[in-house]
Amino acid sequence: MNETTPTPTGNLTRRGFLKSSSAAVAGATLAGLSIERLAHAASSDELKIALVGCGGRGSGAASQALMTHTLGPVKLVAMADVFEDHLKSSLENLKKQHGPLVDVPEDRQFLGFDAYKKAIALADVVILATPPGFRPMQFEEAVKQGKNIFTEKPVGTDGPGIRKFLAAADESKKKGLKVGVGLQRHHQKGYLETIKRLHDGAIGDITALRVYWNGNTPWVHPRADLEKQYGRKLTEMEYQLRNWYYFVWLCGDHINEQHIHNIDVGNWVKGKYPVRANGMGGVQVRKGKDYGEIFDHHCVEFIFDDESRMYSQCRHIIGCWNSVSEHAHGTKGRADISGYRIFGDENWRHRDNGDVNPYEQEHLDLFSAIRNNEDYNEAHNGAMSTMTALLGRMCTYSGKEITMEQALNSTVNYFPDTLAWDALPKSLPGPDGMYEVPLPGITKVL
Ligand SMILES: NC(=O)c1ccc[n+]([C@@H]2O[C@H](COP(=O)([O-])OP(=O)(O)OC[C@H]3O[C@@H](n4cnc5c(N)ncnc54)[C@H](O)[C@@H]3O)[C@@H](O)[C@H]2O)c1
Repeated sequence: MNETTPTPTGNLTRRGFLKSSSAAVAGATLAGLSIERLAHAASSDELKIALVGCGGRGSGAASQALMTHTLGPVKLVAMADVFEDHLKSSLENLKKQHGPLVDVPEDRQFLGFDAYKKAIALADVVILATPPGFRPMQFEEAVKQGKNIFTEKPVGTDGPGIRKFLAAADESKKKGLKVGVGLQRHHQKGYLETIKRLHDGAIGDITALRVYWNGNTPWVHPRADLEKQYGRKLTEMEYQLRNWYYFVWLCGDHINEQHIHNIDVGNWVKGKYPVRANGMGGVQVRKGKDYGEIFDHHCVEFIFDDESRMYSQCRHIIGCWNSVSEHAHGTKGRADISGYRIFGDENWRHRDNGDVNPYEQEHLDLFSAIRNNEDYNEAHNGAMSTMTALLGRMCTYSGKEITMEQALNSTVNYFPDTLAWDALPKSLPGPDGMYEVPLPGITKVL
């Protein structure tokens, strides 16, 4: 995938360092720490971390969470995954990077579909980094257990999942939990500076946005390769989990999985979410049984309540024009948001001369809020930006114009009825090994 976790720069700031131990104790109370832990919070103040989903990003996020040791003691105490090989290799790498800050003995390594519950129980801060189809269920559990949370984006793959996540988000606010969502552009200095100026009117009223994730195709794990690697036949459930990018219930399609970042920036600039959308997409080039059921391109026109537009493109086709970027057009000028440039009455540019890596900054901001008991909850925006991407997908799959309200109320549920290695996901290959791909004009999404 293009979204690899950047190498840590070591450029940590101590923004929001503990203001007072009493604030930390208050934070600990609200965050749901046990009475025993609370007794030690003022002196040792160690925050225990659990990682759920020990793949590329989860390992990166755990590493970045541990780098907040500059704010106060932290330890990775538990890990959960469905695959032992993933958990073990993540643990080994994290130990190499962080030595004694990684303390996950065998009895705190949890495997299987219920593993997340056991890992969450042992932590003060939980990192959720599985494929996004599991996010609503795991976020709900972490909130139920009263834990602070860093959840990767996107936070779901269908309407029912987002409704579950939104309900848990409300609950997390009531409980005073701190929640960070991995839309790291919100913690990236260049974006913050540029968007602040746009909100201050640097290009007047925003009339249009253009957002793109046009790039090459991401990783793929063909069934034949996996069966050779593991020396056995895989059940359909295991195959789909190991090749999760290409299945809607797990990934939500790439408009959700990657393009959410750009769509979210558009929403942020407008300060609201679209009310309706229309679009088109399909599978033009990336065809074959290894590529499951997702499209290789989507093109969506999102419409806000003031009739302004956000034009969105995402494509996974090699040899085409590539761009991962966001742009705004206003009544007094335009902005290359991802290039941190404004062309208005006065031109302006932010140059990145060693800005803190946003993947690090998002953890510094979350852990600082936990330690200072500051309000910090990105869950609602995470859910609504995910829902915007899903609204786009509903339009491209169905070929219809759809409102946000309809999308939010969609009852199409892609999640399997049973989670077990021998249970069947809802989408299955035909006799030729090919999966059914959505057909605009025919496919139902509401
Ligand atoms: N913010 C960013 O820039 C960024 C970058 C990359 C990935 N991500 C997000 O991070 C998430 C994970 O992506 P990744 O690239 O690390 O994928 P990955 O495949 O490398 O890791 C996912 C891990 O979750 C495990 N897993 C699957 N189902 C599970 C379950 N039910 N319970 C516990 N573990 C389970 C898998 O075995 C795997 O180890 C995705 O939502 C992705 O969009 C965000």
